[in-house]
Amino acid sequence: MSKKQAICWKNGEIMPAHQATVSIFDHGFLYGDGIFEGIRFYHHTAFRLTAHLQRLAYSAQAIGLNLPLSMQELTQAVHETIEHAPNADGYLRLIVTRGEGNLGINPESCNKPNVFIIADDVHVVAQNIKQQGANIIIASTRKLTLDGLDPRVKSLNYLNHILARMEANHAGADEALMLNGNGFIAEGSADNVFIIQGNHLITPPSTDGALAGITRQVILDLSQDAGLQPMEKSIGAYDVYNADACFLTGTGAELIPVRSVDGRALKSCPSKAFEKLASLFQEAIAKECL
Ligand SMILES: Cc1ncc(COP(=O)(O)O)c(C=O)c1O
Repeated sequence: MSKKQAICWKNGEIMPAHQATVSIFDHGFLYGDGIFEGIRFYHHTAFRLTAHLQRLAYSAQAIGLNLPLSMQELTQAVHETIEHAPNADGYLRLIVTRGEGNLGINPESCNKPNVFIIADDVHVVAQNIKQQGANIIIASTRKLTLDGLDPRVKSLNYLNHILARMEANHAGADEALMLNGNGFIAEGSADNVFIIQGNHLITPPSTDGALAGITRQVILDLSQDAGLQPMEKSIGAYDVYNADACFLTGTGAELIPVRSVDGRALKSCPSKAFEKLASLFQEAIAKECL
């Protein structure tokens, strides 16, 4: 529990987060049937809120879930949550579950999705990892194939990502990259991955299993200002081991340089290009939120 109390907007009402309970018959709880967004707010302002709500709407449409609130109403709900948040800077977790139904898997028994927006402190990545870089592994647990679950759906099903993260924990590493069924790198267990090779900034495409990360998009948009040529391209373990630099991106983590992959030290960490991107990223936050 945070020092100041986390709060939750639940279907229109603000309450202490620990009171925002869910029915054991909610299919979000029973089957992971639901979607979510992780959103950062700085100085009482959500970063890239429109992009997050757009991705939520796409996820909902992809799983045939009718959002019970319009984009405008969701925006309003996020603003209201931030007003009651324990701190000026923090993290929001917006969750939409399929709602209460019977014990069978059929979603037709659920007729009212539940919407929760939790506001809490950010559980920041340890400062030494941010400064010195993360030691990561490539997990043996794979991403699901596109015809199983499209990686662009930010769903409540994270079990294979959790298994990958457990592999990292057991190896004493800070994070795990996951491969897709064809052996190409897809993303991290809870972040996107980039490599820098010369002046090329490369990240796997969604068709290789990457979530369409909001931070990933910000970095792609800023890359040319950092003197880098952005491209979405398939990469394998070999490319990561031989990269000039590698880093991870995510809402909670922001940008994390990678020091080593599977015990191979990378050429530079943090690289000059990474530092430039990281400062452009902070400028974008300052411009939009501070
Ligand atoms: C599997 C996965 N990939 C990538 C990301 C990064 O996405 P974003 O930058 O939108 O937070 C996340 C963040 O939660 C994630 O869970």
